[in-house]
Amino acid sequence: MRMVDLISKKRDGHELTTEEISFFIDGYTNGTIPDYQASAMAMAIYFKDMNDRERADLTRSMVNSGETIDLSAIEGIKVDKHSTGGVGDTTTLVLAPLVASLGIPVAKMSGRGLGHTGGTIDKLESISGFHVELTKEKFIDLVNRDKVAVIGQSGNLTPADKKLYALRDVTGTVNSIPLIASSIMSKKIAAGADAIVLDVKTGAGAFMKTEEDAENLAHAMVQIGNHVGRKTMAIISDMSQPLGFAIGNALEVQEAIDTLKGEGPDDLTELVLTLGSQMVVLAQKASTLEEARTKLQESIKSGKALAKFKDFIKNQGGDVSVVDHPEKLPQAKYKIEVRAKESGFVAKMVADEIGIAAMLLGAGRAAKDDVIDLAVGLMLRKKVGDPVTKGDSLVTIYTNCEDVDAVKTKIYENIFIASEAQKPVLIHKIII
Ligand code: URA
Ligand code: CA
Repeated sequence: MRMVDLISKKRDGHELTTEEISFFIDGYTNGTIPDYQASAMAMAIYFKDMNDRERADLTRSMVNSGETIDLSAIEGIKVDKHSTGGVGDTTTLVLAPLVASLGIPVAKMSGRGLGHTGGTIDKLESISGFHVELTKEKFIDLVNRDKVAVIGQSGNLTPADKKLYALRDVTGTVNSIPLIASSIMSKKIAAGADAIVLDVKTGAGAFMKTEEDAENLAHAMVQIGNHVGRKTMAIISDMSQPLGFAIGNALEVQEAIDTLKGEGPDDLTELVLTLGSQMVVLAQKASTLEEARTKLQESIKSGKALAKFKDFIKNQGGDVSVVDHPEKLPQAKYKIEVRAKESGFVAKMVADEIGIAAMLLGAGRAAKDDVIDLAVGLMLRKKVGDPVTKGDSLVTIYTNCEDVDAVKTKIYENIFIASEAQKPVLIHKIII
């Protein structure tokens, strides 16, 4: 087989066979196929697309390019949740202990934040002592015993994806549905999930800005999952404005604790219950979504979910007393209000730009190796659709540096007040 023939075949719009796709991925991973041929192939796929079978084969080849995690030693159906990334998205911190509190194993591999989006591990590390450097054995033992553990992205999972994603980044081929869908799904499958619930975000703060693109990606990922034998479903959820009120690591931990106590923001709570219900049904711990939702709500009400969060923190070395004493979380030196310059209704809060404002404070990374400040961030005091009176606080800036003029300007430029406004729809669609 010659790579040049495969590139020409795809360029002319033909279907690649299973063997041809694995020849490409294996060769690119081990270095026998050079970057220039892989980029030509990525561009051919970008323009000519792939059918469902090719997409599933591409995903499988990427899974097989490296190690996979074997979770078969964990009893029960392992359901993973994946979000395509957003601003202030505290969902995993709430969902993991909440779902685990119903006896469902949550064996989660998580990452760090980059750009305007945050990462679950960074957030959890704002709890003193908490760490994700577990051996595989310890990880599996914890999930078997207490149903929940989070491990960092370790080992050599999907090296083909790492290489190809970096190449796509510099060759104008990131935005291709078959390439994105196989990239995301290969990582989830290599991480060992039996079933997968996808939260595909749409709107300004999302990877997929339009609802149509989000829906196409969601369909593609669901198809791949089902093709390779993992039950998969997706929710399309709003990311036109940040989720919840808190954006920033320690602030989001506090928000997660509030939500586990039943006192969280409405949108975050609703998203958690929607995703959680799907997970509970996929794990076969409820037969209907309604039954699943009721069980989740009861677990919050009874304190079981919060108790599970405490077990989880303690198991991974964290200081559990932060749950009852949030003042022990990293605290910012200054709190500075951003006040409304006019009255009306909040019409728009541009999620990615607000995320960048938080990043400028030090809550996130502009580059992969940047050091972040866990204490800083933003607390939204209003959300889209809320009435405001001139002088009301729109946002509180939590900062360790008094000069926040650039951040303030960015916030003002990205919060719009109008004479009328509606709350955005949170859950756009469910795709099975
Ligand atoms: N996220 C991924 O993991 N892969 C892509 O290709 C795009 C977004
Ligand atoms: Ca939030």
